[in-house]
Amino acid sequence: MTSTVARPSVAPAVDLRTTLAGVRFPNPVFTASGCAAAGRELAQFFDVAALGGVVTKSIMVRPRSGRPTPRMAETPSGMLNSIGLQGPGIDAFLEHDLPWLADRGARAVVSIAGGSVEEYVRLATKLRGAPGLAMVEVNISCPNVEDRGQVFAGDSGAAAAVISAVRRQSPAHIPVFAKLSPDVTDIVAIARACVDAGADGLSMVNTLLGMVIDTTTLRPALAGVTGGLSGPAIRPVALRCVWQVAQVLPEVPILGMGGVRTGLDALQFLLAGASAVSVGTAVFGDPRAPVRVLAELEQALAERGIDRVADVIGLATDRLPRPDIARTEEEQ
Ligand code: SIN
Repeated sequence: MTSTVARPSVAPAVDLRTTLAGVRFPNPVFTASGCAAAGRELAQFFDVAALGGVVTKSIMVRPRSGRPTPRMAETPSGMLNSIGLQGPGIDAFLEHDLPWLADRGARAVVSIAGGSVEEYVRLATKLRGAPGLAMVEVNISCPNVEDRGQVFAGDSGAAAAVISAVRRQSPAHIPVFAKLSPDVTDIVAIARACVDAGADGLSMVNTLLGMVIDTTTLRPALAGVTGGLSGPAIRPVALRCVWQVAQVLPEVPILGMGGVRTGLDALQFLLAGASAVSVGTAVFGDPRAPVRVLAELEQALAERGIDRVADVIGLATDRLPRPDIARTEEEQ
């Protein structure tokens, strides 16, 4: 992994703007939830407002210390985490974290997580009118809950119940995105259930459930036993999920994530049908990864003679141009 920002050999002049459910973003590279808290720790490396958006660590109703340690393990081309949704709780987040992002002009995508529909409703209610809020990402797919049966994204009915409740509580101008799990038999069915329940878009995908066993202690490496696998190892799976859903639901905007480490990785997600990408695990080794990915993406588009990000979204699918892309064209 390199921390060098790519130096263009030709001057890129690419229109990087993108839209997600009618909300405009200056470019399609976001952070990924869970990899940089609420963005503050990245500010020493780059201006967080330079990104399309900052997706915050999933916030819960109450402060939470998370799972016992060890909570991370290395894997080939990836990382296993069992953090357990550690966080300050929604009140502290609204007091300290969201205003900090708003002061810097960052577009905040706030990820919320709950143990029940009621908790999601409380979170959505608290977010109403919050300054700097661009979108809500509803994390219904955290793999690190005590009971895997609680993963809402594993069941169409449970996923739909959360999403419709959050959609009802959220202002009409704030898109609600459902974050889906790749650990399902048919991700299209879950995606469709979320959209039918009112999701304005989909974030795809969360980590895959995995496990490492320490051959010295002869015990699971993580205290929580299982954890979420992320990083380049999951990119082909994440890309397949995005492509499958984009094929069937071409009008639904997708924020794609899963092992994005370079501009060409980001380009693959856009071609598969994502309108923007989140960079996650890469920031642990290279905190500048999101801005480097953005520079590399711009360069890659310029080298291919492509003037606008909007022109590549979904090119690798069989779908027709999306309505919000057409709207962007008309408005220009
Ligand atoms: C965690 O905090 O356990 C990770 C959250 C997630 O993967 O959704």
